[in-house]
Amino acid sequence: HTRYQPFPAMKKTDRRWPDNTIEKAPLWCSVDLRDGNQALIEPMTVEQKCQLFQLLVNIGFKEIEVGFPAASTPDFDFVRKIIDDGMIPEDVTIQVLTQAREHLIARTFEALQGCRRAVVHVYNSTSKVQREQVFQRDRAGILAIAEEGARLVAAEAAKHPDTEWVFQYSPESFTGTEMDFAAEVCNAVMAIWQPTPEKPVILNLPATVEMSTPNIFADQIEWFIEHLDNRESAICSVHTHNDRGCAVAAAELAIMAGADRVEGTLFGNGERTGNMDIITMAMNLYSQGIDPQLDLSCSDEIIRIYTECTSLPVHPRHPWFGELVYTAFSGSHQDAIRKCLNQREEDDIWDVAYLPIDPADIGRDYQEVIRINSQSGKGGVAFVLEQEQGLQLPRWLQIALSAAVQSEAENASAEISANQIWDIFQKHFMPSN
Ligand code: KIV
Ligand code: ZN
Repeated sequence: HTRYQPFPAMKKTDRRWPDNTIEKAPLWCSVDLRDGNQALIEPMTVEQKCQLFQLLVNIGFKEIEVGFPAASTPDFDFVRKIIDDGMIPEDVTIQVLTQAREHLIARTFEALQGCRRAVVHVYNSTSKVQREQVFQRDRAGILAIAEEGARLVAAEAAKHPDTEWVFQYSPESFTGTEMDFAAEVCNAVMAIWQPTPEKPVILNLPATVEMSTPNIFADQIEWFIEHLDNRESAICSVHTHNDRGCAVAAAELAIMAGADRVEGTLFGNGERTGNMDIITMAMNLYSQGIDPQLDLSCSDEIIRIYTECTSLPVHPRHPWFGELVYTAFSGSHQDAIRKCLNQREEDDIWDVAYLPIDPADIGRDYQEVIRINSQSGKGGVAFVLEQEQGLQLPRWLQIALSAAVQSEAENASAEISANQIWDIFQKHFMPSN
């Protein structure tokens, strides 16, 4: 793949170099099949879940939250199917969600019988509003729910020693929870689970509702990590939602603040405004020369399967993957892109105006880069002719052709295809044709 520079026009020795940057990919966990699924008007069928699961595996996710089996029969059946049919590769761990309630925990372990390795993700809500208005419990009451959940999970796991268990706890509504209380609850859960650096637990901190600017979320994560009793035995995970439109930024800043792991979904599907979009964050890393450890080279295939399974469209201007992301309509943009592409040597670091990455890296075609309408200039029109017909036009002819194309586009009020440009060229400048 094309080479990218960590920070354009900056070197690590530069005094403007930021204090904190992301140096490597976080651990990723896809929650498409759980949080993403629970937000669909029509939840996925078992077959659709299988198809999306396979896509997530092919992309390279090593942890995939596959459902809430104690809460829904299709989720239970799906978990059974992927275990019974041997669909989980050796290096992939499935994760399932459960509330901290006895009968749900028992049913969760029933769903996981015979699984080689699994993350059991138990949660209860800890915020002030949830404590006071939803659960009518004080801090001690909420702490007791978390502790009881942790104890039940550990007890059930002990009954099934053939499975390699990983425990995960989420103080749901973390962003609305006083930080000292969030740390107290998580420390209490850790004290029950007794993790070690060799066998850590996952503490997942959700912005169940995004309530602040991303720097404040990052400060919460930093504070929380500093107040953990046994930091070395915990994988700190974040799970951001996009209520203020900053879920990716919040996850990025949280990683810079010390988190290790990110939960999210493809294209940000999820409750309300969605979960953080893993495609965007992974491509942000990629464009700065950091291997995201996910293979996003087949963008069209990813969009096709995602759309088939969720019935949700991908916006044409979605960061990195939208259909219009590698097009330039305005003449000055087209001209700049053309100059950069013409000067480029194969091994150069990618440095092309208006194109933050080489579209070929996500399986897109250079030919889609330039589209011609009434706003396009001579550079773009000439570029299309060069690509399609191998013709290099002198400047005077570029100007004349562009004027002819522009007037056709204005009359038609529509985009002009490469074939139409060729027709216009023949009509005006190859009279013998
Ligand atoms: O957003 C959230 O808080 C969740 C939890 C269950 C982790 O999805
Ligand atoms: Zn969520």
